Amino acid sequence: MQRKILIAPSILAADFSRLGEEIKSVEEAGADMLHVDVMDGHFVPNITIGVPVVASLKGKTSLPLDVHLMIHAPERFLNAFAEAGSNYLTVHVEIRSQLEKVINGIHKLGIKAGLAIKPGTGIVRLEPFLEKVEMVLLMTVEPGFGGQTLIPEVISKVSELRGKIERKGLSTKIEVDGGVNKETAKQLISAGADILVAGTSVFGKKNRRQAIKQLRG
Ligand code: DX5
Ligand code: ZN
Repeated sequence: MQRKILIAPSILAADFSRLGEEIKSVEEAGADMLHVDVMDGHFVPNITIGVPVVASLKGKTSLPLDVHLMIHAPERFLNAFAEAGSNYLTVHVEIRSQLEKVINGIHKLGIKAGLAIKPGTGIVRLEPFLEKVEMVLLMTVEPGFGGQTLIPEVISKVSELRGKIERKGLSTKIEVDGGVNKETAKQLISAGADILVAGTSVFGKKNRRQAIKQLRG
């Protein structure tokens, strides 16, 4: 069966002074969801956006909001991000919180849960949770900044994870994030990715419909 590939433009690469128009343009261009990178300056060496921006997007788009929390102690903010209208909340395995508790907390709010790993973290850390989350996110660059080059070693992690998910007969989605462009997209899709996050390669292009089409392959 052919997998449906979903494209999630990352608003980190959008023009924040015209965010409403930017969102509309990728929605019209065929995006499947919107990826929102939340950074706290501790878990990653950068600060981006938070709850009020998610809330303001909710009124501007019907696309699902895929919120990637690159923050420590996400349990403190789950409620606020839920109320703001998040559809997916993804947390990192590298945080010090009790992951099982955090995942349950996300589900209790009626939201889909995702679990992410950095490029240097083994997929073995995701394995105990594959049945408990709707999505796993493999970072294909070091989290913190848009516009980086994909780390090629991560591609084999995608195929290994795909194998594990298939063998267990699960429907857990694999999302990849960082350095996704039309060339790397092809490799990631054949390795088994379902959802491609793309910042620069969508918002950096004038013709966004074509950019999204090219990523889908
Ligand atoms: C990096 C973020 C990514 C980033 C992707 O920490 O998680 O979502 O915005 O940006 P590009 O597609 O430009 O590599
Ligand atoms: Zn992200």
